[in-house]
Amino acid sequence: MRKQPDMTDAPTTRTRPDTLKLGTFVYTFGFHPAAWLHPGSDVHGANDLSHLVRCAKTAESAKLDFMFFADSPASAVGDPAALCRNPTKMNRFEPITAITALSQHTSRIGFVATASTSYYEPYNIARLFASADHIAKGRIAWNVVTSDHDETGYNYNREGLAPHAERYERGQEFIDTVFGLWDSFEDDALLLDRTSGLYYDKNKLHTLDHKGKHFQVRGPLNIARTPQGRPVIAQAGGSEQGMELAARTAEMVFSLASNIDRNRAFYADVKGRMAKYGRDENDLKIMPGVVVNVGETREEAEAKAQALVDLMHPDVGLLMLQEFLETDLHGVALDEPFPMDRMPEKAKGSKAMFAELKDFVSQGHTMRELITHYARQHTGNGLIGTPGQVADFMQEWFETGAADGFILMCPTLPSSLEDFTRLVVPELRRRGLFRKDYEGETLRAHLGLSTPPNRYAAARAKG
Ligand SMILES: Cc1cc2nc3c(=O)[nH]c(=O)nc-3n(C[C@H](O)[C@H](O)[C@H](O)COP(=O)(O)O)c2cc1C
Repeated sequence: MRKQPDMTDAPTTRTRPDTLKLGTFVYTFGFHPAAWLHPGSDVHGANDLSHLVRCAKTAESAKLDFMFFADSPASAVGDPAALCRNPTKMNRFEPITAITALSQHTSRIGFVATASTSYYEPYNIARLFASADHIAKGRIAWNVVTSDHDETGYNYNREGLAPHAERYERGQEFIDTVFGLWDSFEDDALLLDRTSGLYYDKNKLHTLDHKGKHFQVRGPLNIARTPQGRPVIAQAGGSEQGMELAARTAEMVFSLASNIDRNRAFYADVKGRMAKYGRDENDLKIMPGVVVNVGETREEAEAKAQALVDLMHPDVGLLMLQEFLETDLHGVALDEPFPMDRMPEKAKGSKAMFAELKDFVSQGHTMRELITHYARQHTGNGLIGTPGQVADFMQEWFETGAADGFILMCPTLPSSLEDFTRLVVPELRRRGLFRKDYEGETLRAHLGLSTPPNRYAAARAKG
């Protein structure tokens, strides 16, 4: 392979026996709000599966672990003049439908679909994901969210969101119920015996009979146990309840890659909670999301990131900035120094980012400059560089207990994903950090996750 300019001669000895896990995050056009305007995305992609098929095939040929479909069961809310310039959440496929279709165009890569415990019933989710896992021959994961945006509630008989603690309480009972339903049939329950006329062994089909605070579900689930035993469980909650739920039930946790020390602490905290649930730390993969802008040279990578910032309309930047600062900035002049009294006391997101923005405006920058600066910080995430630099970042996080792998928040799809697979994947392989081929046929096999035993079979085996 041609040596990349600026590529570091990083050590090739591995300090961990396993290798990086890599998934790609899917917003139709890419993670950047201006991605749909960029020639490297597909403007028809929101309603044309062939766009996602191209992304899936690219990711699969690079042997990535999975594609992850984020979702919320509501359109975004905000200034209509900004929303019509930022279509990501306004026009997109429902993820379980999309991944089921995509599984028929691929054979190895896994798929993660987001679905909310606040707005489905457990029987629906158990059935949808079990069907998808059968159709995909064991390559499906459910990203469990409780939903954290008010707008979702208005579509489901509510005035906004239920309180956080109530959402998590319902979420926990929801997952337990789904797990119970997925165990309805034991692994070897199907006899398919035309001679005896027995399709299944009636002693290996179980009725859950769940009666809890939030749900009453008799069961059994009307589909056989899935090829993975059950679909893989992903989560992204960052709160105390979110971390506890993850330690108890999740097999992948998505976080944000903001700062290595903070991520190391998060990694140790969540994994440290697993033992009390009788779980092994290797049965949970912590995967921070990173925005990667990679180029053959640092300048080329910078130019790619800047091209997207330049494409973004100020109304869209303002919408994002207001969401981060949780304040209304309408009426602030675009081209005059930003008035410090319009800066809130605190923001809901990253404290470090907030401090950085405050510092920026205190130097006399204008609102337009602040919008651009925030967009750059928010969508750049520090990972702008050569393949060697991107690999250095991933290696350090992986080898020092901050991550088991990464979710690639590709700024544009498919072009940034194609850049990553062409430029960074070979460098990760050169360092022995990433697989050359899939280890197995299922998503569990790619991730090195064990198959949870069927509870009834396990109880019988115990005697
Ligand atoms: C990488 C990442 C991806 C996420 N994807 C989704 C998503 O697709 N849908 C959703 O409703 N929430 C998503 N979230 C939000 C989380 O589910 C969660 O609500 C949020 O991290 C706040 O955590 P908490 O509710 O424990 O405070 C995501 C969070 C992260 C860090």
